[in-house]
Amino acid sequence: MLSMDIIIVYPETVPVFSGVFVGNEQFSQTPGKVNLMSVTNSHSGTNVHEVADGIYRINTPVKVLGAGGFSFNQYLIIDDDCLLFHTGLRKMFPLVREAVASIIPVENLRYIAFSHVEADECGSLNEWLAAAPRSMPLCGSVAAMVSVGDLADRAPHAAADNELIPLGKHTVRWFDTPHLPHAWDCGFLTEELTATLLCGDLFTQGGSAHPPITETDILGPSEAFRHKMDYFSHTKNARGMIERLASTNPSTLACMHGSAWRGDGAKLLRDLADALSA
Ligand SMILES: [Fe+2]
Ligand SMILES: [Fe+2]
Repeated sequence: MLSMDIIIVYPETVPVFSGVFVGNEQFSQTPGKVNLMSVTNSHSGTNVHEVADGIYRINTPVKVLGAGGFSFNQYLIIDDDCLLFHTGLRKMFPLVREAVASIIPVENLRYIAFSHVEADECGSLNEWLAAAPRSMPLCGSVAAMVSVGDLADRAPHAAADNELIPLGKHTVRWFDTPHLPHAWDCGFLTEELTATLLCGDLFTQGGSAHPPITETDILGPSEAFRHKMDYFSHTKNARGMIERLASTNPSTLACMHGSAWRGDGAKLLRDLADALSA
């Protein structure tokens, strides 16, 4: 989610990170396994943290001119076929690549997946396709038809609604969610082994200083952000689509902006549906 009238300050130009996480900083010495949060770029504050078994949150805090702090998360699923969900902004590619490389060789990536076509979701798609020669874009069929078949340097895997994509021990499932929260091509992935919903722009939290994962309320902060930024479409189908996501009973919500969340995801999603219809 990125509003056109906001200027994102490239994090390497601004000392944006306040050191909130420094107390938790710990670099793993075990290749491919990072248990605690690791800062992978001390200037930008880009950091990685395992939020579910084999699923890593890559987080970069930024300052947005006139709007305060914000953050961008990508999620990396480690398996026989590794999957990156969201690329980050094109200009963030060096930071995200550095973070991925702290966990796996970037050439191991098989899927560069994203919810919908926006700069923070897929701005560096072609940089990733070049860096990982075996990789391909993974998106919904509308995104593939309307944009990605043309924009991407390699043909995408156009996921059908409800399609399962095995990665090894992890399996992701694609859900079409047109216009939820925005964009005709929007969709989400669930990961079945860990009951994780890669929920993209749902539950977006403003600000830049967030713990990697929280069990405290994120609906209140995300609702405050929604009322300020109006980034949800006004589709009448939101409740039905949210109910489909809730029926998967996610226990981890991998949010794209702010903390990931752990708890009764079905309840939180239904609370969101109620808030949207209030
Ligand atoms: Fe986003
Ligand atoms: Fe978005």
